[in-house]
Amino acid sequence: MSRQLFVTTALPYANGNFHIGHIMEYIQADTWVRHQRMQGSTVHFVCADDAHGAPIMIAAEKAGKTPQQFVADIAAGRKPYLDGFHISFDNWHSTDAPENHELAQDIYRALKANDLISTRTIEQFYDPQKAMFLPDRFIKGECPKCGTQDQYGDNCESCGAVYSPTDLKNPYSALSGATPELRKSEHYFFKLSDPRCVAFLEGWTADGNHLQTEVYNKIKEWLIPKEDGQRDLGDWDISRDAPYFGIEIPDAPGKYFYVWLDAPIGYLASLKNLFIKQHGAVAGAQAFETFLADPATEQVHFIGKDIITFHTLFWPAMLHFSGRKTPNVVHVHGFLTINSGEKMSKSRGTGLDPLKYLSLGMNPEWLRYYLATKLNARNEDVEFSPEDFMARVNSDLVGKFINIASRAAGFITKRFDGKLGGTSAHGAGVLDILRQQRDSIRDAFEAREFARALRETMLLADRVNEYVDQNKPWELAKQAGMDAHLQDVCTVCIEAFRLLTIYLKPVLPALAQQVESFLKIEPLRWSDADQSLGAGHVIGNYQHLMQRVDAKQLEALFEPPALSEPAQDAPEIAATRAMPPGSAPGGEAIAPTIGIEDFAKIDLRIARIVNCEAVPGSTKLLRLTLDVGEDHADGSPKTRNVFSGIASCYQPQDLIGKYTVLVANLAPRKMKFGLSEGMVLAASHGDEKAKPGIYVLEPSPGAQPGMRVR
Ligand code: 2FM
Ligand code: ZN
Repeated sequence: MSRQLFVTTALPYANGNFHIGHIMEYIQADTWVRHQRMQGSTVHFVCADDAHGAPIMIAAEKAGKTPQQFVADIAAGRKPYLDGFHISFDNWHSTDAPENHELAQDIYRALKANDLISTRTIEQFYDPQKAMFLPDRFIKGECPKCGTQDQYGDNCESCGAVYSPTDLKNPYSALSGATPELRKSEHYFFKLSDPRCVAFLEGWTADGNHLQTEVYNKIKEWLIPKEDGQRDLGDWDISRDAPYFGIEIPDAPGKYFYVWLDAPIGYLASLKNLFIKQHGAVAGAQAFETFLADPATEQVHFIGKDIITFHTLFWPAMLHFSGRKTPNVVHVHGFLTINSGEKMSKSRGTGLDPLKYLSLGMNPEWLRYYLATKLNARNEDVEFSPEDFMARVNSDLVGKFINIASRAAGFITKRFDGKLGGTSAHGAGVLDILRQQRDSIRDAFEAREFARALRETMLLADRVNEYVDQNKPWELAKQAGMDAHLQDVCTVCIEAFRLLTIYLKPVLPALAQQVESFLKIEPLRWSDADQSLGAGHVIGNYQHLMQRVDAKQLEALFEPPALSEPAQDAPEIAATRAMPPGSAPGGEAIAPTIGIEDFAKIDLRIARIVNCEAVPGSTKLLRLTLDVGEDHADGSPKTRNVFSGIASCYQPQDLIGKYTVLVANLAPRKMKFGLSEGMVLAASHGDEKAKPGIYVLEPSPGAQPGMRVR
């Protein structure tokens, strides 16, 4: 039965390039979409940049660009990733596009007409220097519970306490360092606590079709009244005050939709834009509304576990109470971890940079295959292990699957002019076993149980390899009078290889295309598993279809970012600059010569000293809060805490606002007073007692936080 599907992945914030987590989600959704297309379904698979919000506005300002230009520049960098990993989106759009402005305002008006919008005045922190209300992530201060410094306005990373920004002690603006003021402002709310919303969401979330069980179990907590009769699901604050990069709220001057209000509407905007591209403005807009409202259209969202509430509570309610169809499925996946649960970190060199992966010449379909062997329908983290990656690709994908073709194709080409023969009863039996598994593998893909689909497929590949080992074509080829049998055995292998290619095609689209051209056949559909190529079909020349992973590629992939290549004449330069023995400038001899590759291991970065204070209980240390140009995943600025033994020479206030140099990749060190995340550079004489004085390094004006020192 042909289905019509509208499939999305979460819209990435337009404040940075894709990381491997995005790529994993796209591969998961793309595999499912390709499976659907192979079944003959019509799929509209769309995504867009999530363009709005304060972090992007602030990042644009930092970069000296308008938000529109900033977002456009990020969007321009998307293609190499999407093409590189064979992600088949039908459209890529932006939440700042006109379709989204219009749809967001329409949906808001409908909610308002339904008496589901209210206003009330709230108090919020305001940065008097930047003249703007501060988002929670841009307010820092001391944790009200444990007193740890430099905690964000919403929760403490040290003790895990959750609070509101106004609870912080000694709050300061992470943007300007200014002490924020509490100011009143009128905000707009979506009345999710309205009994109509609660009743709708109780029903929608409990319907077993929309959510995974574990997701439902988590989300239903929001709807259950607590002892005081209140639910966690309260009215949702959907407005932000100017200046804000977003969509204006109708009839509310100076007020904008909170980014999370218009972000999921961006799914619809991208779909609408696709229809407009296909049918023109008027017919496209009409076709969009018809398609979206059609009960036969299945709306499927793929998202990560961090954004469940937005997609399973707020979004269905927005759609339902604005008179639209609600999503059919919200499919939640876990995060990608590396080395037993450690979250990917670029600065520690443990990250898997998708573009670096491609630039090393690593096959994107290795990654697609590997991730598919790990993905299932549950909301679980996925562990990337380099050793496992190599084993799965080399032993299973190449060793078991590709090997079948390479063992048989040469004989067919050389001995039989590329012509396939018939299949004996024994060979036909093997092919029947492969065909019998067809529906089970299809069902596994349908249920997003990719790991199971691949396990079953690889067991079939084992079965075919057993057949090859039993029949030994390489020996048949040497025996007189065995030509017909040789052709038969190799034909079974090629027919089997074609069936396995069908089963793997959702995961390995480019490889499947190569196989199609090698076998001289039309693009494979799932239903083609019923057919055979048949005796007399002529195949093309076999060319090796896939290389094995080389361990060196993996080593290079996980190598921390290095400095530029050493210059050709580097050894000579080092030699001419070496000091004569016995010389002790600054009170100590120059350390033994190192190569540029040793120096390259030290990642030095420009840091701005955002804050500096004495450390109670220590006469030596000062606590520095450093801006090294790093951001959290949500785009909010991230600072580092570093202890430095410079208290004898500096007053804390003298250092605030200064720039210095940080050893950014030094392993974090747990100290009595907290974690130190790096080391700032300072000069001192080798004999500190005789010649006291510590001098913190300062770069020339113009150096910006995050710049690498080479
Ligand atoms: O968490 C994020 O990265 C958001 N940009 C996801 C938005 S998904 C949808 F609602 F747009
Ligand atoms: Zn705390």
